[in-house]
Amino acid sequence: MCGIVGYAGWQNAKSVLLEGLKKLEYRGYDSAGMALMLSGDLKIFKGAGEICDLEDKINLDSKECSFGIGHTRWATHGRPSDENAHPHCSCCNKIAIVHNGIIENYQHLRGWLEESGHRFLSETDTEVLVHLVEHYYTGNLMESMRRALALVEGSYALLAVSSWEEGHLVCARKDSPLVIGLGEQENFIASDIPALLSHTRRVYILDDGEMAAVTSSGVKIYNMRGESVDKDIFEIGWDAVEAERGGYPHFMLKEIMEQPQAVRETLRGRLDADTGRVKLSELKFTPAEIQSIEKIHIVACGTAYHAGLVGKYILEKKLQLPVEVDLASEFRYREPLLAPRDLVVAISQSGETADTLAALRLARDKGVRVLAITNVVGSTLSREANDVLFTWAGPEIAVASTKAYLTQLVTLYLLALDFAVARERITSEESAELGRNLSFLPDKIEELLSTNSLNKMQTYAQKLARSENAFFIGRNLDFAVAMEGSLKLKEISYIHAEAHAAGELKHGTLALITEGVPVIALATQQHVLEKTISNVQEVKARDADILILTMTGNDHVEKHAHEVIYLPAINDFFTPILTAVPLQLISYYAAEIRGCSIDKPRNLAKSVTVE
Ligand code: M6R
Repeated sequence: MCGIVGYAGWQNAKSVLLEGLKKLEYRGYDSAGMALMLSGDLKIFKGAGEICDLEDKINLDSKECSFGIGHTRWATHGRPSDENAHPHCSCCNKIAIVHNGIIENYQHLRGWLEESGHRFLSETDTEVLVHLVEHYYTGNLMESMRRALALVEGSYALLAVSSWEEGHLVCARKDSPLVIGLGEQENFIASDIPALLSHTRRVYILDDGEMAAVTSSGVKIYNMRGESVDKDIFEIGWDAVEAERGGYPHFMLKEIMEQPQAVRETLRGRLDADTGRVKLSELKFTPAEIQSIEKIHIVACGTAYHAGLVGKYILEKKLQLPVEVDLASEFRYREPLLAPRDLVVAISQSGETADTLAALRLARDKGVRVLAITNVVGSTLSREANDVLFTWAGPEIAVASTKAYLTQLVTLYLLALDFAVARERITSEESAELGRNLSFLPDKIEELLSTNSLNKMQTYAQKLARSENAFFIGRNLDFAVAMEGSLKLKEISYIHAEAHAAGELKHGTLALITEGVPVIALATQQHVLEKTISNVQEVKARDADILILTMTGNDHVEKHAHEVIYLPAINDFFTPILTAVPLQLISYYAAEIRGCSIDKPRNLAKSVTVE
């Protein structure tokens, strides 16, 4: 987490860095800082608080300053405070560093450096880096950085400057993302692509174990042995406008509203709407390889994990194969049983989530093929997996994932249909019929986003916003979506929410259902509809306040609920793609009514690049 930026060029560095930091604020927002080089001196501005607070602190005439580094923090070691904010400086105040990642052996290194006379001013792990670089400095920042990093265990994307070497930025990467943007007589460094989009779409994506020396006129990339590395320039497909709020009060609302388009883009070229035929030509599997798969393991975190839960239902059903879904943070430490004919599907919006990457590497080390589903072209996940399916959602900036989730679901459906035909588990007629249903989805989502439906969701959110607890229930696919509904609500509105398989309530949780407690029941699966309604009656008997989400036509459920939201008719198999949308909006409106920081919820960050 944390966002880092660097600039060397001819523009006002303060403005470029502030703009970049604002674009990266979703990576962390508890403190911010900047080191600017002015007349041969390093000027440091930093403190707890958001980037707008930092802007007020930079009280220098920065017009002449065209070189510097910046940081937005998500605290890991040391609480958010002025001292713990980055950049951190060497004792001599000539070297400054910003860092994203965790230095695992920092306590040992700190002890050793303190014994050697270095004074530490913060509680952070990062500060050891700058003292180490100072310790080894003999006139070459790159060289001292390389020597310092040889002693470091952990993850880092870091940027260093020194007033002894004005105009030179040095950066390095291991297990935390870093991109270098290429301009005309100016170059940029950032944790993530959105920070660069208004300046350039031509980038180098650093790999683990690479370092770079960046000036206004050039970029030189090296490995950790100091050997020069040749890299291809990568052209980014996103444009700057996509990463703007575009008149919406929050990125989250904009991203919810973009979902019909995001789903269309994800289907484009993979589904023929007329014939319903699915073809994932970007996959390198032969039919024989698809047929030989014996088991699928889905690994992911957070919302992507919830997409995986839906994936389990649909892949098992259509492929008749066992599918396990694991939280990547559990998978990596539980010695999973992986066999050569298994397939691991790693899902991640950012493609940079540390636990998901570790799960991918574990599978690859065991010789198991990994298929990545990710939204970011050029991300580590996309580069390290054997096969990739991109979700074409465009940049997702709000911390709460919405359009990425929906496009992950769509991609899993495409995968299920493509593989099911290859494994001869469904006929091409059945696949065509399902494919046609898939092609209706963007219009159906649009219908759900129409003003009429929104009014209903807003009204319900007003009630929900007054509550401190909420429960989501459902069976089968509805249960998987209930998990995501509950996460959405808690992460942005801070209302305590739990999701349960509807049939499980009476095994414990029913004890928490009292008068007026909101229960949101997902009842879209026709084959278990009456069972779900029985569970709704159980909570109704305890005076819960009930909202039912069901398919148009199921009017008979009305007598069991205080409110009903009807979803446009679609084959049962695809309802998760529709059900998720009102759940996102209800959470959004509830958070808005409660005055929460919707795009940047407390304690969270978008891209979890540390364990
Ligand atoms: O980038 P990823 O999809 O790997 O991120 C995984 C989770 O960190 C992410 O989905 C998180 O749970 C979101 N805040 C949920 O809205």
